[in-house]
Amino acid sequence: MPVIVYVEAGGQRTRVEVEAGANVMRTAVHNGIGGIVGECGGAAMCATCHVYIEDEGAETLPPVGEVENEMLESAAAERLQSSRLSCQLNVTGNIETLVVRIPDRQL
Ligand code: FES
Repeated sequence: MPVIVYVEAGGQRTRVEVEAGANVMRTAVHNGIGGIVGECGGAAMCATCHVYIEDEGAETLPPVGEVENEMLESAAAERLQSSRLSCQLNVTGNIETLVVRIPDRQL
């Protein structure tokens, strides 16, 4: 089973086993992961699901879409090369472990 590892701003790591296709934002919200808000419910309209992807899983993800790119510009925390909106990320077939770091603020 694929695994998502969430690393909260304070350093706490939570490992969640998921079905293939699981959404990174929804999985966080359902598991009570601190720091991922998901205010718009996954419509790419709020940027409160901002995460940084660790190298390990980065190449296996689809590229940043146009709407995602625009919304990342309004993220509360600094945008980095590894920034993504977690609501736009699903754990696809090739991913065994996806490590996402959560910024220190979303609002
Ligand atoms: S949940 Fe709103 S942009 Fe991802």
